[in-house]
Formats: sequence, structure tokens, C-alpha cells
Amino acid sequence: MLSEVLLVSAPGKVILHGEHAVVHGKVALAVALNLRTFLRLQPHSNGKVDLSLPNIGIKWAWDVARLQLLDTSFLEQGDATTPTPELVEKLKEVAGLPDDCAVTESLAVLAFLYLYLSICRKQRWTKEDLELINKWAFQGERVIHGNPSGVDNAVSTWGGALRYQQGKISSLKRPPALQILLTNTKVPRNTRTLVAGVRNRLLKFPEIVAPLLTSIDAISLECERVLGEMGEAPAPEQYLVLEELIDMNQHHLNALGVGHASLDQLCQVTRAHGLHSKLTGAGGGGCGITLLKPGLEQPEVEATKQALTSCGFDCWETSIGAPGVSIHSATSLDSRVQQALDGL
Ligand code: MEV
Repeated sequence: MLSEVLLVSAPGKVILHGEHAVVHGKVALAVALNLRTFLRLQPHSNGKVDLSLPNIGIKWAWDVARLQLLDTSFLEQGDATTPTPELVEKLKEVAGLPDDCAVTESLAVLAFLYLYLSICRKQRWTKEDLELINKWAFQGERVIHGNPSGVDNAVSTWGGALRYQQGKISSLKRPPALQILLTNTKVPRNTRTLVAGVRNRLLKFPEIVAPLLTSIDAISLECERVLGEMGEAPAPEQYLVLEELIDMNQHHLNALGVGHASLDQLCQVTRAHGLHSKLTGAGGGGCGITLLKPGLEQPEVEATKQALTSCGFDCWETSIGAPGVSIHSATSLDSRVQQALDGL
């Protein structure tokens, strides 16, 4: 059982192109961001072990002796693609979660407990371990929005820049180090409802909506081609193409019915600073991305961030292509992360 502090981080991620279309079998391009979420498991001399997930405000403590007494043989039989209700019940019992615990929180704790009991005891993860993590993250997605494509969990697990289509994943070989703004409009949205809305629109207007999905697929492919070219031989014109693709996709997503006034505002504000944005993920609020082209002066970036913040949005400047889920040594973390882990 655990004798030292265990630290795990996972990257933030965005879908560059292909959200919603990917649910209908089209290609999506997704990238891991250099913005990470952390988890810490810390044993104490009083026989307790603390779980801290500061990014979602969870702190939990277990008795090490109780965990040691556990019969974990049920974990060996569990195929991560189909965790049985019995397995989930058993984990709940072990976790000691209250009945009224929010579904996302309880899922985060359960998924963690499962991973800890089965693979976190190791100090390095193999490809098989990562596959298991990915499958469990997919199950989490299923609980949250029913019919996920699998792109979100895949990019958080594997990191980098991925092309994703119907469970088939390939990594972009040399993705360029694009700088972006990630903006959270803070407008709450429900992915399950938005995904269902697109499906209904497709059923209602197949002749209109199917070509939109095909066009989004073509945008993803064109973006993949340009990113490949940028990795080999970067040129300023490539950014103009990326900007056009962003604009076209944003219009398509609006036509699919997943836009929102806050996202329109985000696009207008960044446009006033000469920058191009689109929603990322489910839409209906949530987050948007803005491409920062090279040569942009830092004061201009700051002015754009300031303008977005004045709209009530949260805004981060970051780059794409970060590593996937990782284990860290306690000494390798910067002090801000340590503070966040301690500060709950
Ligand atoms: C949500 O982040 C992305 C969607 O395409 C849904 C999915 O792929 O499961 C809207």
C-alpha cells in the first residue's frame, strides 16, 4: 500500500475541430493543453490517507487499514469497458461516499479509487495502464453525457495532438506549438442535451444537417493537413488558413444549434483585436478558443484578455500539445500547485 505521496496530473484539452460531428462518425482534432489538473494522495502518521483534487474542490480521507483489508479480487475481473453495477456499488461502499454526493464528484472519487487500487501502486504507467485509464475516463464521460464519442478522454490520456474517428486514434507527428487563448464564458451547459439537440436537428433536416457534418469533417482534415505542413515548414499564410477554418467551423456549429450569445460575444471581442475564435466542446456556453498568431505583441494579447475578462469571462493563455496523464514526484511540482493541493 502507499507509503509516499502520490501526485498525478492530467492536461486540460480542447477540440480544435470536429466537436459534435465526431459523435456522428466524423473526424475530430483534439489537443492537450499546458494547463493541468492535479491530484494528490498523501499518507499520514495517524493511519489515514488523504485524497485531494483541488481543481474540483474535493478532499477525501480513508483509513489505510480499511483499504488494506479490502478484497480487491473484484478489480481483476473488471473489464473497464463494462464496469458492472456491482463493481460500482462495491467501490462506493469502499469509498464511503454519502448518498447525496453529486454524481460528477462521486464519479471522480470512484474512478480514482479504482485506478489507485489497480494501477496507481506502480510508479510508472505502461501503455496497457494508460489504455485502462482511458477506458475508465470513457466510462466517466458516459455517466456524464450518455453517448460520448471518446475523443475527450483519449486526448486527456494520451496528450499531444490527436486525430480521432470512431475510436481510432492517431497522433499528429510534429504538431506546431500553437499559442491559444482558452476562454470560459462561465455559461453553464449540458453536453447531453446539446448532443441530443444536434441529433434531433439531423433527424429533422437530414438534407441540411448531414452536409454540415460532412463539411466539418473536411475542415478537420484540412486543419490536420495544415498542422502537418506547419510542423515541417512553418509559414505565415498557414495561420490565415487556420483562421478561415475556425470562422467556417464556428458558423457551422451555430447552424447545428450549439452556439450561444456569450460565444458570439467572445468571437466579436476577439475579432475587434484581429483574432479568430470558435467554441470548443459541446457549445451552448462553456469554452471558446482563440488562435494567437506569431508576432502578436504581448500588449495586444493582454488587451484581448482584458476585454474578455471585462465581459465576465475567465481567460487563460496557453499552448497546445502537452503530455497526457502523468505521475509526478512530490519535489518536481512548482509552489503554486503545492499551495493549491494544501489549500483546500
Ligand atoms: C464534447 O466535449 C464534445 C462533443 O463532440 C461530444 C463528444 O464528442 O462526446 C460535443
